[in-house]
Amino acid sequence: MKITIVLGTRPEIIKMAPVIRELEKRDAEFFILHTGQHYSYALDRVFFEQLKLPQAKYNLEVGSGSHAEQTGKILIGVEKVLQEESPDIVLVEGDTNSVLATALAASKLYIKVGHVEAGLRSYDRQMPEEINRTLTDHCSDYLFAPTEKAKAILLGEAIPEKKIFVTGNTIVDVVYQNLKIARERDNTLGSLGLHPREYFLVTLHRQENVDNRARFASILEGLDKLAADFELPIICPIHPHSRKRLGEFNLKAPKLTLIEPVDFFDFLQLGSNARLILTDSGGVQEEACILSVPCVTLRDSTERPETIDVGANILAGTSPGNILECTRRMLGKENNWQNPFGDGKAGERIVSIITGGFDD
Ligand code: UD1
Ligand code: UDP
Repeated sequence: MKITIVLGTRPEIIKMAPVIRELEKRDAEFFILHTGQHYSYALDRVFFEQLKLPQAKYNLEVGSGSHAEQTGKILIGVEKVLQEESPDIVLVEGDTNSVLATALAASKLYIKVGHVEAGLRSYDRQMPEEINRTLTDHCSDYLFAPTEKAKAILLGEAIPEKKIFVTGNTIVDVVYQNLKIARERDNTLGSLGLHPREYFLVTLHRQENVDNRARFASILEGLDKLAADFELPIICPIHPHSRKRLGEFNLKAPKLTLIEPVDFFDFLQLGSNARLILTDSGGVQEEACILSVPCVTLRDSTERPETIDVGANILAGTSPGNILECTRRMLGKENNWQNPFGDGKAGERIVSIITGGFDD
């Protein structure tokens, strides 16, 4: 069986790593197709190097652009490669434009699609990711739901049960596999003048926040107040998208320490030692939960409700008052929840399912 892994952005590289590792271990026939949606070293190559992933056989180099432009280029590029290579199955992970375009291209060529991280819903169609993940689920043949909750959502949308497999989320695998190495590595905290539990970690890049001046300004005001109130540093590895908008909107964040995006080991070290994490990222909400660090989500909805159910996360939206209040509330709780995203063997399960259960 020939397997194609398609990926294009930072979180897809990180979360596909355990699947790729497992395919290598089993000597399976596979290749990686990179769409080139992310191309900066700090959002792309660094993760291949650090997680020791094999080179992509193809890179479509689609780069940045409007949604239609980016999705269209990926659709055309992926179709060409799939026609040339005729794989039996294509695996995608998550909810980016790379994922939707690939699922569309493959399913129309009658190539099976496996969606890793299926069944997530925020029910907010203002988020491009919600459209991408919903449509991808509905043209997939294998839906790898991270939790029973995600499976129930898919069943509620009339997706046949035989296509759905609850595997856990591969983020658990990749965190468990790398946390020790990350902690033993160099002294990330020291080089930034930080001490364990004496700083907040922030990430912010979602379109609905950083492309909207009022929302972006409101979050920055909240974070500034937080730094002043708690007298703690706030460290923010800033996504290039957000850096660009910060400049265009002429916004300032005097109390935030902005640094370049960091590699995965550094992020694990910064995340696992933070007093609390504030984020609008999907993956970072999960990571905080797995690392037993409380999380305040700078959004009005989440497709990761499991993090809230176990008490690891809270939705603050973007108002400065709510950001402060939610932070106080999370800091007043015990961090003794159970990780709801699985046992770290999702990659293994996914590969067993596609290699064992495939109908030729
Ligand atoms: C994309 C995904 C988002 C995901 C995020 C992960 C979509 C619709 N969005 O958002 O779901 O959470 O990746 O990080 O698929 N840029 C660079 N270097 C790069 C890539 C982008 O500087 O390597 C800058 C460019 O200015 C670009 C902007 O970031 O215009 C946005 O990039 P894009 O890929 O469109 O979306 P992300 O914000 O990265
Ligand atoms: N991450 C990283 N360096 C950073 C910020 C995030 O390595 O400076 C990792 C983080 O560990 C997580 C993933 O990026 O696994 C989340 O990706 P991102 O927030 O870009 O996308 P999302 O999950 O929101 O789609």
